[in-house]
Amino acid sequence: MRIGQIRVVVAAAAIALFGGLAPTAGAQTRIIGGGVVDAATVPWTVALFSSSVADSYQAQFCGGSLIDASWVLTAAHCVVGSPAASIEVGWGKTKLSTYTAADRHAIDRVEVNPQYDAGADTSDIALLHLTTPAVGAATIALDRDPAVPALGAPLATYGWGNTSSSGTVYPDDLYGVMLDDRSGPTGTCGSYGAVFIADHMVCAGVVGGGKDACQGDSGGPLVTTTPTPVLVGDTSFGTGCALAAYPGVWARTSSYADWVDQVVGAEAPRLAIGDATLVEGDTGTRALKFAVTLDVKSTTQISVPYATDTSGTATPGVDFTARAGTLVFKPNATSKVVSVPVRADANLEATETIGVALGLPTGGAIVADAAGVGTILDDDGASGLRLSIGDVVVGEGDYGSVVKAQFVVSLSQVPATTVTVGYTTVTGTAGGRDFTAKSGTLTFSASQRAKIVTINVGREWIPEADESFTVVLSGATGGGVTVTRATGTATIRNDD
Ligand code: ARG
Repeated sequence: MRIGQIRVVVAAAAIALFGGLAPTAGAQTRIIGGGVVDAATVPWTVALFSSSVADSYQAQFCGGSLIDASWVLTAAHCVVGSPAASIEVGWGKTKLSTYTAADRHAIDRVEVNPQYDAGADTSDIALLHLTTPAVGAATIALDRDPAVPALGAPLATYGWGNTSSSGTVYPDDLYGVMLDDRSGPTGTCGSYGAVFIADHMVCAGVVGGGKDACQGDSGGPLVTTTPTPVLVGDTSFGTGCALAAYPGVWARTSSYADWVDQVVGAEAPRLAIGDATLVEGDTGTRALKFAVTLDVKSTTQISVPYATDTSGTATPGVDFTARAGTLVFKPNATSKVVSVPVRADANLEATETIGVALGLPTGGAIVADAAGVGTILDDDGASGLRLSIGDVVVGEGDYGSVVKAQFVVSLSQVPATTVTVGYTTVTGTAGGRDFTAKSGTLTFSASQRAKIVTINVGREWIPEADESFTVVLSGATGGGVTVTRATGTATIRNDD
C-alpha cells in the first residue's frame, strides 16, 4: 500500500484513447512508457482504495479487473491480511480524484489463493467479492488457454501506478502501455532465472526496456488486445521498473482459472420470501400468496421449511389459518408460492398483518430474506358487493429465470350472479422487458370469491433498485359490484 505517499498529478499532454489500440507515440513520463487511457475503453479496469482514506487519489493502492458482476481479480500481495472492510473498489472513471464515495464500492470477502507465497512471489492472485453486484458493468473474460499468450504476442496493461522509472510520479489519470510477451508459455524471463516460473507467470515488456507496469499498478490487468481483450495476468512484481534485463511479471490467470471458477461458482443461492396484500371481504376464505424465490438456478434440489408465525397483528385461527410446510425447489426451479388462507369477516377492523418465516434451507442455499409480511386490508366500512385487487412483492430471480407475481382479486362475498372484470398490466419503473404484459377478463361464477392474476416476471439484468408495475381492474359488471381497490402493485425487490 502506498497510503501516505504523496501523489503528484501529471498533466497529460494529450489524452490518448487507446483501449486495445496503439499507445501514444513519444510518451515520456507516462506509466512507464505508456499514455493516458480513457477508463471507458477499459471499463473492467479496477482501482483498489483504502476505505479509511477519503481522498480517492491518496486512497488508491493497487489495481484489479472486474471478471464477474460480483468479483474483482487482483494480486494476493495487494490484499493479503487486509479485512474486507478496509478495501473499496472503483471502475469506469479515468481520474482518481473524480471517484466520489458513491463510486467506491464495498467488498465483503477477500479470497487469497491458498498457494500464494509472499517470499517466492508465486500464485500472486486474489479475488474480492462485491457486497452489491456491479450493475451493468463490463467484465473481462479470463484466459483459460495455457498456450496463450504466445512469445511476442501484443499485450496491454493498465493502472494508476508510478509513471517514473527513476523516481515517484503518481498520476491522477489511468495509464496504459502496450507490451510484448517475453517468455511464451514455457520460456525464461530476462535475468530472473528460477524466480520466473513460466507456467504460473507471464513475462512482458519490450526489448531494451522502457515500458512496464510499476509500483501501484499491482493487481491490475494484463490483457491480449485482439480480437477482444482477454485477461492473461494480474500485475505481480518486477525488479525496478522497465529495466532492460528485468521485464514485468504478472500472475498467469490461465493457471488459476479452476480456482477462480471454484470461488466464483461457490456462491450460495439465495432464498427470499416476498410480501402480499389482499382485501379481506366479508365471507369465506381466500389465499394470500407469498412468492418465495431463488436468485440463481441450482443444479441441486433445495428445500426450505416455512411457517406462519405470530409476528403479525392478525390472529391465527381467527383471521387466518396457520400454515407450515416445506417448499421443494427441483433443480433449475426459482419460484414457489406459500399460500395462507385468510378468513373474511364483516367486522370493521384496522389493517392486519400476517408473518410467514422461512427456516434453514438444505442444498447449500442461504436465506437472504426470511420474513414475508401479508397485509389484510379491511373493506368493511363499505357495503354491497365489492371487488378489489391486492399487492405483491417478489424477490428477484436469476438472470433469464421467471418468477410469478400473483395478484389476488377478490369479492367481498359470494356473488348472486356472475361477475366479470377486465384487467391489464401497466408499466411502472419496471419496464416492458421486466414482466410479460397481460390483459384479459376474470369471470367469477356464482360460487367464486377469489381469482388469481399471474404475471411472469423475467430477469433481464440485475436491477439497481426495487422496480414496480401495476395491474389495473376496469369495467366490472354483475351483481351491482363496486370496485373498491382497482390497482394492484407488484414490487420486484432487489435483494442482492
Ligand atoms: N509489486 C509492485 C506493486 O505493488 C509492482 C508490480 C509491477 N512492477 C513491475 N516492474 N512490473 O505495485
